[in-house]
Amino acid sequence: MRDTKILVFGQDGFLRPLMKSPARSTAVLLFTMIFIFGALVYTLLLPSHLISGGTPSKPIATTKNNNDSKMSKMPPKQIEIPLNCTFYNLNKTCPNHQEIPSNNQHRLPSSTCPDYFRWIHEDLRPWAHTGITKDMVDKARKTAAFKLVILKGKAYLETYSKAFQTRDVFTKWGILQLLRRYPGMLPDMEFMFDCVDWPVILAEHYYGGGSNSNNATNVPPPLFRYCANDATLDIVFPDWSFWGWAEVNIKPWEILSKEMKEGNKKTTWLNREPYAYWKGNPDVADTRKDLMKCNVTDKQDWNARIYKQDWIQESKEGYKKSNLASQCTHRYKVYIEGSAWSVSEKYILACDSVTLLVKPHYYDFFTRGLIPMKHYWPIKEDDKCRSIKFAVEWGNAHQNEANSIGKAASDFIYDELKMDYVYDYMFHLLSSYGKLFRYTPSLSSEAVELCVESMVCNGKGREKQFMMESMVKGPAITNPCTMPPPFDPPSLHANLRRKESVIQQVDSWEKSYWGNQNSKS
Ligand SMILES: *[C@@H]1O[C@H](CO)[C@@H](O)[C@H](O)[C@H]1NC(C)=O
Ligand SMILES: *[C@@H]1O[C@H](CO)[C@@H](O)[C@H](O)[C@H]1NC(C)=O
Ligand SMILES: *[C@@H]1O[C@H](CO)[C@@H](O)[C@H](O)[C@H]1NC(C)=O
Ligand SMILES: *[C@@H]1O[C@H](CO)[C@@H](O)[C@H](O)[C@H]1NC(C)=O
Ligand SMILES: *[C@@H]1O[C@H](CO)[C@@H](O)[C@H](O)[C@H]1NC(C)=O
Repeated sequence: MRDTKILVFGQDGFLRPLMKSPARSTAVLLFTMIFIFGALVYTLLLPSHLISGGTPSKPIATTKNNNDSKMSKMPPKQIEIPLNCTFYNLNKTCPNHQEIPSNNQHRLPSSTCPDYFRWIHEDLRPWAHTGITKDMVDKARKTAAFKLVILKGKAYLETYSKAFQTRDVFTKWGILQLLRRYPGMLPDMEFMFDCVDWPVILAEHYYGGGSNSNNATNVPPPLFRYCANDATLDIVFPDWSFWGWAEVNIKPWEILSKEMKEGNKKTTWLNREPYAYWKGNPDVADTRKDLMKCNVTDKQDWNARIYKQDWIQESKEGYKKSNLASQCTHRYKVYIEGSAWSVSEKYILACDSVTLLVKPHYYDFFTRGLIPMKHYWPIKEDDKCRSIKFAVEWGNAHQNEANSIGKAASDFIYDELKMDYVYDYMFHLLSSYGKLFRYTPSLSSEAVELCVESMVCNGKGREKQFMMESMVKGPAITNPCTMPPPFDPPSLHANLRRKESVIQQVDSWEKSYWGNQNSKS
């Protein structure tokens, strides 16, 4: 894909760029499914939550063979919410599903959420003491593409500006699926969503110079988006690709993750190419252009095999060469940010290969759970080629260790980033956010009700296909996972320091490796 920059007038009258995330392009490249697995016909109504969904652990009965037929002791029944597009197209009104039991009373208990959920507490900390007021939310409108109001479990939309491609569409779709999965369980709230890559709520503009956090006029506007960094206070939320990226044929994560997991079984780590692989669009960021220099030539071999992804060409050829599941062929895979975070990260980590992670500047909702040398190998940003060369040499000389870094990353992805947890993250983030509300949102005349029917009934092509494939069929039969407590500040800082010191350790190995190389020559 090109680095297409589209300028639009926002509601505020400012021109602002709508840009696709370069990162994605990488991601995209990465995948397309490999095998003929593609031939597998997914029925449109694939009951995704049945598959991914809460596996009922045990019925809650305390004694075995207790035949007391009380509901609470029976495993809950899976309810399917009907989709009737004939009805919708006749009435043009969203159906009222309130008669559908939410399973609230009978849901099975669940596990504790993955550790990265603890960042939810941190991300909402700016509003912990003040709560969230209408004024704060209104201020976040400046750059938002839309506002979603949730009232009594229903969603209402106010649209402010056009987002790039279908990222806004699949984001809203994902939120509707959350409402189907946990009906009636979210408090009333409203939130502004900005679909552009880069975070914009600069921390330095708030609490400037003091711990002013009780002063509501000095509190940042709460703004949701896909990534943030250490200088910003934007609230991170799962990106659209979990429900599909129609433009580049990246399937919903539920389906794609299964295909990738199957694909990994085809080649053991040892039988993969002993080099570092990257494929993506270099034109979106200087750091990616810099990575191109590490490609193998007649004269040098940095152990890197680097390819450009041409999305326009790919779309013409049916995405045969961008199949993500067929890109797990090397022992090492490079992850490098584009203009901001990249959706490619989960696909790279899912490969069973060692992820060589070029020092990132942005985080999304799950990447703060990654630990260097456990889940990935850190690569220096300003000395990429030598850093990659050393990483590959080290891994080929320490095959067991390298293999287990690859395995730990894919375990993380398949266990802690399965769709159940993506929904639970959204649930806990939005519940905690909603609890901070100091007002009850109301509907303006611009607000329209958003429902599965209004999004999918008149949809077309791959967009509609991905929606049908990622549709949650009905209320979950398990509870959301249990939120872990906030970090206590000393242990949070200790964790961050530990990560930093691992990275420094690798850096010092690298230095001594190159020192030795230089003294040999
Ligand atoms: C439990 O109840 C069912 C149906 O009422 C019956 O068929 C079954 O034999 C009972 N099981 C036990 C262990 O009592
Ligand atoms: C869908 O709605 C139409 C129109 O109200 C109705 O005739 C039809 O029976 C419904 N189909 C199902 C499967 O409920
Ligand atoms: C749907 O439309 C029909 C015909 O206009 C009407 O009789 C019915 O009450 C409507 N149902 C709902 C739920 O709005
Ligand atoms: C809150 O902060 C604003 C801007 O920094 C300042 O003008 C105002 O006086 C403060 N109010 C209180 C009650 O401290
Ligand atoms: C990197 O080198 C390989 C092998 O020579 C070549 O096929 C590929 O096109 C190169 N990649 C780029 C981005 O130039």
